[in-house]
Amino acid sequence: MQRFAGLAFGAENFSPAKALFLRRWCCRLRNPIVHFQLLSVGDGLFSVELINGKYQLSGGIDPLALCKEHGTPLYVYDAAVMERQFRRIAGAFSYPKLRIHYACKALTNLTVMRLFRQWGAALDCVSIQEVQLGLMAGFVPDNILYTPNFAGLDEYEQAVQLGVKINIDAIPMLENWGLHHKDVPVCIRINPHLMAGGHENISVGHIDSKFGISIHQLPHVLRVVESQGLRIAGLHMHTGSDILDVDVFLRGADILFEAARKFPDLEYIDLGSGFKVPYKPEDIETDVEELGEKLSQRFAEFCREYGRELTLMFEPGKFLVSESGFLLARCTLVKQTTSTVFVGLDTGLNHLIRPMFYGSYHKIVNVTEPQFKPRIYTVVGNICETDTFGSDRRIAEVVEGDILCFYNAGAYGWMMASNYNSRPRPAEVLIYQGKAHLIRRRETLEDLTCNQVQIDI
Ligand SMILES: Cc1ncc(COP(=O)(O)O)c(C=O)c1O
Repeated sequence: MQRFAGLAFGAENFSPAKALFLRRWCCRLRNPIVHFQLLSVGDGLFSVELINGKYQLSGGIDPLALCKEHGTPLYVYDAAVMERQFRRIAGAFSYPKLRIHYACKALTNLTVMRLFRQWGAALDCVSIQEVQLGLMAGFVPDNILYTPNFAGLDEYEQAVQLGVKINIDAIPMLENWGLHHKDVPVCIRINPHLMAGGHENISVGHIDSKFGISIHQLPHVLRVVESQGLRIAGLHMHTGSDILDVDVFLRGADILFEAARKFPDLEYIDLGSGFKVPYKPEDIETDVEELGEKLSQRFAEFCREYGRELTLMFEPGKFLVSESGFLLARCTLVKQTTSTVFVGLDTGLNHLIRPMFYGSYHKIVNVTEPQFKPRIYTVVGNICETDTFGSDRRIAEVVEGDILCFYNAGAYGWMMASNYNSRPRPAEVLIYQGKAHLIRRRETLEDLTCNQVQIDI
């Protein structure tokens, strides 16, 4: 039984819809205690939950046993959470011609990509290598949108050869297109000049951003399209990540609708992504249900006026995989200075750069000893730079050897990992249908040296 706010619910009766309603209700009340409980409950699916004083992963899997088997640091993902998130966003829109492209940059593991394909997702790729991995994962070319930034013409050529949909985000490239591939229809990435996103490093739709073609340059775009006889099949925008406000998406959509009236041959409009997920107990997330309801109506109205039912596309990354992932790391040392108690780990910004890169918050718990009295710690990595995961965190007392778990590590965790300080990257485990599967082995010293060419000196 899960107990909160004086009520008791049987977990088995806890339908996803009821859980979602309660979660959103709690978000609105901003009741941290209740929300914490609901986060740990999930939408009827357990990810990392404290049961009888022990943390368990989905399906009752013991995170400590996983660490014993695969070593630390270790990334663990829960496929059930990914599926829940995919079905949630796909179900939020009543507009029938909807396509959800998984932005695989968030987590480009082939097994994960194959799962999204099986659930009915298409794919969003930002490099030709992501396209190649997408094809390896079984996506058909027509279900892949290639949206690079400052890629060379050679990469675009490969994308044409592979037959995927192509998104162009610069006028010089559009001009080139007419010279080389006039007959290949393209999408145009518009920068609508909306300041959106949780941090300046992940705000990409503002006036100083390098992404997209300015909405103010639309007359120039139209001249290029007309003079070169280009076929424009889609319009696209993506303004940033961690966007809470549904109105930002709606304003962006209105800007694209306005622009779309000038392109008579459109097949789709892609409104990008940026859906915010909760990181902290009191956090609220983008209300995708509200967005789905409002946008479905507006999109249908626009299509009636446009004269054709276009496909409505989104390309979420974080929303689909962030909450499914956990990073497990071992405490190597607890070090007290005159002002701070540091918990040092066998991982660092080389494996999870988000806190140092853009100040992201990751909840951290002690999975070895969750019942110990909480103390205040600054949790740091082992990299020779300032490498702080979280300052002044209340965590159950930590001793050397304890395993700490970072939440929200599914998106941009492993994918942004590096070999900095010559440390190998962690293994990845996927919990799928109640079983833990290794989906990427831990790197070794050999992986660090295999591409180095030693010369005689
Ligand atoms: C073009 C594009 N689409 C989609 C995404 C996914 O964004 P998010 O992870 O916030 O859903 C990104 C991420 O930066 C992106 O650059």
